[in-house]
Amino acid sequence: MLRFLDLAHFTREEVVDLLVLARDLQQRPQPRALEGRILGLVFLNPSLRTLASFQVGMRRLGGDTIVITPGQGTWQLETRPGAIMNGAAAEHVREGIPVLASYCDALGVRAFADGKDLAADLADIQFGAMAEVCDKPFINLESASNHPCQALADWKTLDDLRVPMRAKLVLSWVYHPRALPLAVPSAVVHMAAMRGMDVTVLRPEGFALPPQVMQKARAAAQRSGGSVEETSDQETALRGAHVLYAKEWGCTSRYGDSEADALLRAGLVEWCVRPGWFDAAAPDCHFMHCLPVRRNVAVADEVLDGPRSVVKPQAFNRLTAQMAVLHRMLAKGS
Ligand code: CP
Repeated sequence: MLRFLDLAHFTREEVVDLLVLARDLQQRPQPRALEGRILGLVFLNPSLRTLASFQVGMRRLGGDTIVITPGQGTWQLETRPGAIMNGAAAEHVREGIPVLASYCDALGVRAFADGKDLAADLADIQFGAMAEVCDKPFINLESASNHPCQALADWKTLDDLRVPMRAKLVLSWVYHPRALPLAVPSAVVHMAAMRGMDVTVLRPEGFALPPQVMQKARAAAQRSGGSVEETSDQETALRGAHVLYAKEWGCTSRYGDSEADALLRAGLVEWCVRPGWFDAAAPDCHFMHCLPVRRNVAVADEVLDGPRSVVKPQAFNRLTAQMAVLHRMLAKGS
């Protein structure tokens, strides 16, 4: 495997195969599989899980990592193609990425959305420009429009919980004081559709996922036998749900307009997941969130601390799923 940029680049069988390897590595550790291998991690944005799980994953497989957080001890990196570099950034990723790649066996990059131009963010232009200049295996640690590592870990979590393929997964928008990127909801709706689930995207008016995102998920559902719907009606969406996956994201009807976004979301503070959200759900409905999460803003304490919540095993699976990606990418003979 040379690139791990989008689950859509793989067949359903290839993803299932990766998850078999993840489970195998969990049961039969291979502490020398990546001996002498070095993964470079470039974080243009903050992280807890992605940073820690990749570092630990490499170590558990016998390899090592270097971590670059541009502007914090290293030069600030310019990502915009064609930029006139008369600002804070001293180095462009067109030099920085290939230089780092020359020191390492693989690179991972996190580069969030600008949140200004929806078309540019959906096209992942800045991330794509970095992938283009890297001649080593390359991993998406969360780009403007995708988070394949999260999606792979979430698929494994659903499998671990023995959630049937045709179960109903509701991906619900939840409140956050400011606009957050579309990467996780886009990755999750596609992953669940690709897994073969009946997916409902629940979101208030103004926060519909972009048509390209929905079309990609519907195409995956068509191939897997699943389905994808969307609604703003909480009662209809949550009825019979087997999984409620909560996520915050920005207004899409006025993308990049922070004032319009703030006005719209000001009336939506009730979109905080509380125990009552599960009244009409399946009795054993699970609660998922990729984390980090704002307690009692996006999700109530009672839900996060209650028996439905699987957010901690979900976060743990970032490690197990990514170890399979690293093994496939870097182990000799893989
Ligand atoms: N879910 C996730 O990617 O977490 P971090 O932002 O902490 O890496």
